[in-house]
Amino acid sequence: MNLQTFHIKTFGCQMNENDSLQLSALLENELNMELSENIENADVIIINTCSVREKPENKVFSEAGRLAKLKKKKDSIIGIMGCVAQEYGDKILKRASYVDFVVGTHNIHKVPEIILTLLKERNKISITEFYDKIPSLSFFTKPYDKSGKKAFVSIMQGCNNFCSYCIVPFVRGREYSRPYKEILEEISYLVSKGVKEVTLLGQNVNSYGKTLNEGIDFTELIRKIADFKGLERIRFTTSHPKDFNKELVHVMKSSKKICNHLHLPLQSGSNKILKLMNRKYTKEEYLEKVSYLKEEIPEIKLTTDLIVGFPNEEDSDFEETMEMVEKVRFLTSFSFAYSPRPFTKFFKTDNVPYHIKSERLRILQKLQKRITLEHNRAMVGSVAEVFAEGKSKKNSEELTGRLEDNRIVNFTGSEELIGHFVNVKITEGFQNSLKGEINAEYF
Ligand code: SAH
Ligand code: SF4
Ligand code: F3S
Repeated sequence: MNLQTFHIKTFGCQMNENDSLQLSALLENELNMELSENIENADVIIINTCSVREKPENKVFSEAGRLAKLKKKKDSIIGIMGCVAQEYGDKILKRASYVDFVVGTHNIHKVPEIILTLLKERNKISITEFYDKIPSLSFFTKPYDKSGKKAFVSIMQGCNNFCSYCIVPFVRGREYSRPYKEILEEISYLVSKGVKEVTLLGQNVNSYGKTLNEGIDFTELIRKIADFKGLERIRFTTSHPKDFNKELVHVMKSSKKICNHLHLPLQSGSNKILKLMNRKYTKEEYLEKVSYLKEEIPEIKLTTDLIVGFPNEEDSDFEETMEMVEKVRFLTSFSFAYSPRPFTKFFKTDNVPYHIKSERLRILQKLQKRITLEHNRAMVGSVAEVFAEGKSKKNSEELTGRLEDNRIVNFTGSEELIGHFVNVKITEGFQNSLKGEINAEYF
């Protein structure tokens, strides 16, 4: 069998997206394979999975029917990678007979070798061992957006925080920071390819460097990255509120390249729940950090993650979450109903009834929608810098781009602007995007 094409379907967070991009580059470089947008034609099909909540986890198995059918038509090699692969390992092979290999979060580098082995003999393979230092992939990542100018850079892996609801430390292993030289080398490569924006990835970027003996922490790393000529925007995610400090605020303020956007997951506004969650901060501490940040950088926009219906969450706890959302006025928030996860402290406790969780989620999302719309409408009349990413999907006359706080702006403009920064006058603010026109005074 001659393998030519592969397709990777990705669920989950930006870490997973980045892993898929890295694996694509690996398969292209080492096996001379080509990425196929069409799953039906691909010789190798890989599903990159997420287990952070039950719903995304189930998606893996709901893909089953489809893949099994495909397999009958065309004898593709089918693999499962990512967090569900790490969680279940070879149990997946037993449950889904169409799967040829399972590869955990620390073993992506082995995929080419696995494919070559499977070509020789179709014995099922599952590799899920953990390493202290995840072997780095011997090439660099690829841009992820249409313009080819935006890329993720993983700066650390794993997590040592063990929030009591979260499976990530169990499926991604212990926290490990990549040596800063390796990170800078990767960014240098990306910039040489024309990348203008990087998003630094880690479960808790503020603790970057703790596992290394290089004397470099996150603020030092980001300062070094900001020195790159040609790099125009730097984002990072995720910041843990317990480790977010003034020093980082100062660095953010000191460089125009560091986007005025901070994703700071609050999870809950109740100190009782935060304690049960093992988050290690109180709502007062969170507010204090946010006030300092807003004083120093008034244009800053905050986004967050919230969980409703955590075990023992009462109406009054939920009210406190609502109050925090009003106070901080997040630009957007991702909110989820608590979903008990294997291995975690609260796996066996799920005592808020489903209908109450759903109702709280509905009320919270309604409030957030109102605040988001207010933020978007408040932009009308102002001129903002937009990075033009490509043509808009809905209207081919329009371009689409993003503000430094990641909001989407659609505006009329010619294709030559793609991949460049454009000053746009905002004319309308909607729920999920902004509309604007090129600011004539700029030219
Ligand atoms: N490292 C990041 C979050 C990674 S998981 C941080 O510390 O904030 C992304 C989000 O999924 C979390 O912020 C949380 O809001 C949500 N989440 C994680 N586990 C969950 C669970 N068991 N039930 C519901 N939501 C969960
Ligand atoms: Fe999960 Fe907490 Fe680690 Fe984030 S910090 S990945 S929520 S354990
Ligand atoms: Fe999901 Fe794994 Fe990310 S569980 S959220 S893909 S780290």
